[in-house]
Amino acid sequence: MTDHLAEFVKVCAASDIERGTAVRAEIDDLPVAIVHAEDGEFYAIYDVCSHAEVPLSEGDVEDCTVECWLHGSRFDLKSGEPTGLPATEPVPVYPVEVRDGDVYVCLAPKTTQKDSRS
Ligand code: FES
Repeated sequence: MTDHLAEFVKVCAASDIERGTAVRAEIDDLPVAIVHAEDGEFYAIYDVCSHAEVPLSEGDVEDCTVECWLHGSRFDLKSGEPTGLPATEPVPVYPVEVRDGDVYVCLAPKTTQKDSRS
């Protein structure tokens, strides 16, 4: 059973994810890639590429990006924006907190795209 703390959901222990790798988590039926970046930070990004339905958690993690293994687009883990083609649409990213060695994710998207209000 998931442990709800405010809006944050406990996903796993930080030690469960090696640096430079990602794991897939299902949070309230939403697939989320939990990424342990090479700099030691944790990130959460919707685990489906915006180009086709490929899990980003199966791609390579490099710097602050994760690569879609199918066609090679990289997504910025802070903004969800693709850094190169063929993907052109961002992927939602979610706030992450590490508390007492556990990783918590808030399902309210941090960003999905730039504010386009005019
Ligand atoms: S499916 Fe991800 S870049 Fe094409």
